[in-house]
Amino acid sequence: MIIDGEEKYVMSVIMAAGKGTRMKSNKSKLVHKIYDKELVKRVVELAKEVGTDDIVTVVGHLREQVKEVLGNDVKYVYQEELLGTGHAVMQAKKYLEGKKGKVIILYGDVPIIRKETLENLIIKSFKNKEYATLLTAIYENPTGYGRIIRDEGGNIKAIVEEKDANMFEKEIKEINSGIYCFDIEELLSALEELKPNNVQGEYYLTDVIKIMNDKGLKTGAVIVEDNTEILGVNDRAQLELLTRVLRMRINAEHMKKGVTIEDANSTYIHDNVKIGVDTVIHPNTTIKEGVIIGSDCEIGPNAYIREGCIIGNDVKIGNCVEIKKTIIGNRTKVPHFIYLGDAQVGEDCNIGCGTITCNYDGKNKNKTIIGNRAFIGSNVNLVAPVTIGDDTLIAAGSTITDDVPSGKMGIARQRQINKDRKK
Ligand code: UD1
Ligand code: CA
Repeated sequence: MIIDGEEKYVMSVIMAAGKGTRMKSNKSKLVHKIYDKELVKRVVELAKEVGTDDIVTVVGHLREQVKEVLGNDVKYVYQEELLGTGHAVMQAKKYLEGKKGKVIILYGDVPIIRKETLENLIIKSFKNKEYATLLTAIYENPTGYGRIIRDEGGNIKAIVEEKDANMFEKEIKEINSGIYCFDIEELLSALEELKPNNVQGEYYLTDVIKIMNDKGLKTGAVIVEDNTEILGVNDRAQLELLTRVLRMRINAEHMKKGVTIEDANSTYIHDNVKIGVDTVIHPNTTIKEGVIIGSDCEIGPNAYIREGCIIGNDVKIGNCVEIKKTIIGNRTKVPHFIYLGDAQVGEDCNIGCGTITCNYDGKNKNKTIIGNRAFIGSNVNLVAPVTIGDDTLIAAGSTITDDVPSGKMGIARQRQINKDRKK
């Protein structure tokens, strides 16, 4: 990582060995998803975005599932018995040894920390020459968390776990998030000194703070501004809560950049979506990861914009429209009850109600290409692969299996005959 113009080594260790019993699941807790993305994958992506040089994941329970999700992107160490958070980090010893720099400790089930928060933590740790920098928070109800013990001067002395805390310590509202930035060499040396002499009989990573302070090594903390960032997932209700927090955060960011969202509660914009200014998003709209939408568009309601879509400016995507891997040109209207998959639509087109691309033949996905200024009548089936030229008209109710050249009208339906009605 580059810190203040200097190359520094920073490793991420992600704790992912826990059981996740309260999820009541056959799957590892860490492979449950928020907005289509596994919790542990979110944490790995975060570690990458921050720019850490190596990522080591401590796996245990159902580790094959975690490995399947993360693949060869990270290094793995195995914690056979869960003997505590300090013991978990000790498993990464072979990767930490011989390295000079910092290590940040993250959790596979704490997936919505902001990149900026981690950057702050790392930068402060380097700048202030701290051997341990903790990410802490102020909680009105701190029950269950480790408490931060500071001296009169405000310097951090230790972390005391809830179960080991006395009545005075329990009053402390500053809690340990469990996320830290450590100096690698001093962490390794402190880990050697951990003893499981506490109520839970575990090797507590938190004891490292006192060990460092006793050696006269400087420690510090960053207090997180937004407490929702350090929320973890232990059960399905928390999974829903974090999804909601992320939804509101993403929606707020788009609104800040000039997008109108009519109802943030029912607008589901996944990660890394780009939307231009003055675009209006109507309720019950889902927009999947990576979609790009221009400015002055109108999207929704009940629109489902799936992966791989690129939408131009001044486009209307209306009620009950689903589009996937589709490019839509400027000023085109896709107003209602339409499915477009693997399609490329030009500028100034109008796609009639009930139109669908028949993109899947049971084996392959095929492309539909529509030129500029095409007028597609209602209830048209476009059987892909098929190309519709510029300035074309497709008659309502047509099932189009052959290309329609530019300037032509395509009609593919039986003529109507009116017969006598049987009495
Ligand atoms: C820990 C902190 C506590 C902090 C809290 C924040 C310690 C001793 N305490 O407590 O100060 O306020 O997090 O949530 O660190 N894990 C392993 N292997 C183990 C033990 C734990 O991988 O042997 C993983 C767990 O799966 C979990 C995380 O580490 O994801 C936290 O472990 P847990 O034992 O639940 O710590 P807390 O009691 O929550
Ligand atoms: Ca916990």
